[in-house]
Amino acid sequence: MADISKSTNKRVVSGMRPTGKLHLGNYVGALANWVKLQETHECFFFIADWHALTTDYADPSNIGSNSLEVALDWLAAGLDPERCTMFVQSHVPQHAELHLLFSMITPLGWLERVPTYKEQQQNLATKDLSTYGFLGYPVLQSADILIYKAGFVPVGEDQVAHVELTREIARRFNHLYPGKDRTVILPEPQPLLTPTPKLPGTDGRKMSKSYDNYILLSDPEPVVRQKLKTMVTDPARVRRTDPGNPDVCPVGDLHKIFSDKQTLEKVYAGCRSAAIGCIECKGWAADNLIKTIAPMQERRRKYEENPALALQIIEAGDAKARASAESTMKEVRDAMGLSQNYKPPERAAGETGQ
Ligand code: TRP
Ligand code: SF4
Repeated sequence: MADISKSTNKRVVSGMRPTGKLHLGNYVGALANWVKLQETHECFFFIADWHALTTDYADPSNIGSNSLEVALDWLAAGLDPERCTMFVQSHVPQHAELHLLFSMITPLGWLERVPTYKEQQQNLATKDLSTYGFLGYPVLQSADILIYKAGFVPVGEDQVAHVELTREIARRFNHLYPGKDRTVILPEPQPLLTPTPKLPGTDGRKMSKSYDNYILLSDPEPVVRQKLKTMVTDPARVRRTDPGNPDVCPVGDLHKIFSDKQTLEKVYAGCRSAAIGCIECKGWAADNLIKTIAPMQERRRKYEENPALALQIIEAGDAKARASAESTMKEVRDAMGLSQNYKPPERAAGETGQ
């Protein structure tokens, strides 16, 4: 068993794009894991607003308000400023400086080979993503991670390639620019693959803002109940008398994540024997979901009523992050020969200087 106590000093760094109010998929896929990690590791979590610009540069008007919504949901879900550092990427300009320096040493081929590059360009065909910033975005991500000398980066499957690239950039940097006494300035981080239970949206596809199939952590109870009512079920269960299978039903997936064991047993037995109807089953799913999000909404209210409180937390996080990032940048600038004071070249004897 790996020792995961805070004293092993393995720092955790992760970021999330400011997509606005967060949904259950964001919670189950990342945030719930972050809330746990803050208990065992020194954690830096940031709102990746520059990353949002790599795809949404044409209309950045929502980035500010979306960032605040994300901060509110983080606090609501239980990220605790006493236990982790929460900040906004663009408030720490050192990330941009390291990104620039990394861009000097990163071969273009490495970036063209990142699987998300071509995929995203095709998926987001309505946006012109043939930009320098979009190609270089994994380099920015590498800077985000390495500037804090992270040991672990909790990410989903889709982001593992970016952590791999981060390791390659670190290796190249360390090879080219050893620190004093040949020390390694930028240790290679490891991806911490978030165990993600399957969480479908109301239409059965992956829950996502772009599919309009999501349930927000901040959705009021009647909205949650209404959304569940329209949720797709096991397609084999056409009539009330047809037996179904919770293992192929999106509502069944919700139960597996949010319901207690007794409910789960009732669902399996009742669905397979057609003893319960889907309406009843969805009602139970809603009950259990609401049990999970109600305390979050309670916490959210406090910050919604007084957003200055949330902003203060972020500002304090920004300052902590900047101090840590700046300390790495001093080493980086030194190693790259950028911090010597400029001295005029010495003149050879006999030169007049005219
Ligand atoms: N690229 C990540 C995403 O789209 C967000 C992100 C930016 C990130 N920088 C990071 C994640 C650094 C982990 C570490 O989800
Ligand atoms: Fe899905 Fe529940 Fe209906 Fe079974 S009873 S098909 S698990 S909604």
